[in-house]
Amino acid sequence: MTTPSPSGHKHWSNRLAFIIATTGAAVGLGNIWRFPYITGQNGGGAFVVVYVICVLLVGIPLVLAEMAIGHSAQKNPLDALRTLAKKHNASEHWRWVGLLGLITLTVILSFYSVIGGFSLYYLFKALSGTFNHASASTVALVWQQLVTHPWQMLFWHSLFMLMTMGVISAGVINGLERATKIMMPALYIILFVLVACAAKIGDFHRAFLYLFHPNWHLINAHIVISALGHAFFTLALGAGALLTYASYSKPNSTLLGSVIPVVILDVLVAFLSGLAIFPLVFAFHLPVTSGPGLMYQALPIAFAHIHGGQWLGVLFFLLLLFAAWTSSINLAEPIIATLSQRAYASRRSSAWLIGFVAWALGIASLLSFNILAHVQWHHHTVFDLISSTSTDYLLPLGGLGFAVFAGWVMSPATLKASICKSSVVFYSWLWLTRIVAPLAILLILL
Ligand code: PHE
Repeated sequence: MTTPSPSGHKHWSNRLAFIIATTGAAVGLGNIWRFPYITGQNGGGAFVVVYVICVLLVGIPLVLAEMAIGHSAQKNPLDALRTLAKKHNASEHWRWVGLLGLITLTVILSFYSVIGGFSLYYLFKALSGTFNHASASTVALVWQQLVTHPWQMLFWHSLFMLMTMGVISAGVINGLERATKIMMPALYIILFVLVACAAKIGDFHRAFLYLFHPNWHLINAHIVISALGHAFFTLALGAGALLTYASYSKPNSTLLGSVIPVVILDVLVAFLSGLAIFPLVFAFHLPVTSGPGLMYQALPIAFAHIHGGQWLGVLFFLLLLFAAWTSSINLAEPIIATLSQRAYASRRSSAWLIGFVAWALGIASLLSFNILAHVQWHHHTVFDLISSTSTDYLLPLGGLGFAVFAGWVMSPATLKASICKSSVVFYSWLWLTRIVAPLAILLILL
């Protein structure tokens, strides 16, 4: 789907290809697995409202800012910031923002692969018919059997990482992108089916109120930080992942029209996932604060209860795996692009190198579900700490860097050429990016 230009730099073949790849990057475990459990841990509707505000006020402007940097530089995060800083007579130190992003992506990839591995395990379980007519307690047992066996988790984590790096190093991303065109719409359809099932066998009314009828008094600093972090995570924002994909879009295209559908789809998928999971959570008395196991403990109950549930389950985990895969490829791509464009290593060796580092780091997250479960800091396991530090602090910090760089260092004329033709829209964006978004991030982080 990307073709090299005369200068050797790859480009998406057209706007639709860019939108599909970016949606593939944004929609992933963050929407389907993470959104419901973080919502459950943060009081439901109160979290959802703040999350939506964060997406609108901070997310959209910053997606455009980060993408505009990649789009005008046509380079990897590190070199994009360096070249543009030089061009605008700013300090070379801006490249540290790019470097921070690459580190953040490695950390996220490490635990993302552990959770991606869970999907592989559940796909295998669904295929073997484990969930057929299973009771809620059997479903809970399947989860327990996974997380209490570190070697088993290690196996699935390794397999997921191998699959990601295998695809990248074999250069079959083109084939994957073609598949994404079919798999992603199929995922949306299956989510609708799951919402309908959950409405039939679960407590839909209560779930709906839980998600969309906020308890305002629950809003506190912690919820706001989690909501901001989650907005960044789900949009793949703040670490140079979007910057890299935008660097593959043609220099004469504009970004706004591509960004809006991606953001809408991204939020929609999260809501659908919430509406599929929470009716089951309430009807089958699962604790909303179950944490990372919430989705894996709730959805199989639906597969157990409906006619043809086994194949629905297989299809769901297959599509989930695909969504996770396209996101993990996006997590790795900026690092691989940086290493290979700077000629430190070939694409293939970069892929295996970064895969190994993230895989090794992932073992710490993996063990926090069992052997290291007692290692806690303020009731947070190692997994919680790795996931929330990278998501709630590092991503917003990187996003802040991109916003200030785009808003104050780059010239408005360069930006306008990248973002949109309309002056009204452009200047509204510019001031959101210069003032509102950075202030919001600073206030929340401080
Ligand atoms: N947005 C992806 C998801 O929701 C995760 C991701 C984060 C991907 C950061 C790239 C960069 O699953």
